[in-house]
Amino acid sequence: MIYLDNAASTWPKPPEVAEAMLQVMREFAANPGRSGHRLALQAAATIEQTRTRLAKLFHVKNPNDVIFTQNATESINLGLKGYLKPGDHVVTTSLEHNSVRRPLEFLRQNGIDVTYVTVSDSDDSLLRDVEESFRKNTKLLVVTHASNLTGRILPIEQLGWIARRHNVKFMVDASQTAGFWPIDVEAMNIDLLAFPGHKSLYGPQGTGGLYIHPELDLVPLLHGGTGGQSELAEQPPTRPDRYESGTRNTVGIAGLGAGLKFIEETGLETIRKHEEQLTRLLIEELSAIPGLALYGPDRDQPRCPVVSFSMEGYDANEVGFILDTHYQIAVRAGLHCSPLAHETVGTIRTGLVRASLGYFNTEQEIGELVRALKEIAG
Ligand code: ALA
Repeated sequence: MIYLDNAASTWPKPPEVAEAMLQVMREFAANPGRSGHRLALQAAATIEQTRTRLAKLFHVKNPNDVIFTQNATESINLGLKGYLKPGDHVVTTSLEHNSVRRPLEFLRQNGIDVTYVTVSDSDDSLLRDVEESFRKNTKLLVVTHASNLTGRILPIEQLGWIARRHNVKFMVDASQTAGFWPIDVEAMNIDLLAFPGHKSLYGPQGTGGLYIHPELDLVPLLHGGTGGQSELAEQPPTRPDRYESGTRNTVGIAGLGAGLKFIEETGLETIRKHEEQLTRLLIEELSAIPGLALYGPDRDQPRCPVVSFSMEGYDANEVGFILDTHYQIAVRAGLHCSPLAHETVGTIRTGLVRASLGYFNTEQEIGELVRALKEIAG
């Protein structure tokens, strides 16, 4: 099988990820931070090591400001529902995934106002439109760092400055960029950074996290046991316990730690350069296929390794099905949980086919996809 669906979940993972998970399961899968015995302490230490690696990757000073969740969606829900109050206004973009849009639409029913800024081709007009949409009661700007449909990377640093200037908090959905693009929460003025563990951080599914600025107090999404401060009737005020009720996923977080170690040892830049080179090759080859239309930013604009396209005479799902069943190539076709982004690029009725690349893909695999698509087009 040729796997080109890395934007949905990276696969394969570095072998160390499964090994780390197996080691926990076999040797010390006790409850982290609950009991004082050595196995519980080893489980807790594993979680703290991964937290420290995440903090280093995102330039977070205090690792306790990084909270573990099940996925980016849970992180986004915690950020939005924990921060916004009735009467607040939020600004977001037309490229957002349903993981941002749906909680915002839910909050809209509870007295929170939302403005979706349409993302055009130019970064300058996006920055201007975002700034013009701020009001007196605007409390939050929430944006995806990169579109999971087009791969376009938004100018996060400038957006962060605009938000700071207007005293608006800034939340970034890094689902497609964490582990691919450098992220510095200080330099980018990010107050809330939501990320999945199972995409470019190479962890298993069921892992993710949220960076919360130290001065930002959110209402927790969950209340319950935290191991420490058990005498308190209410949720402890200290991090990470305040936002981590219930037993953490030690096995998954150990795997995520191994994924992060792999990134540290390989180098973020090495990973990115390889994926960018494959993306360029794929775009070049696809643009020569008659009847195939490419979507996404211009070639000289920054993008993550996501390439979406349509094929004349075919429904997107049909192409995905043929690639899977006849060519053993895995892509994602349809609306990609991002109907807003499809409306923005004009493909809401047809959907698109998306090939998304990872560090373990090769030029040969790109060649196989191109060969298959030429045959389908012919
Ligand atoms: N958000 C993931 C994707 O783009 C699942 O496929």
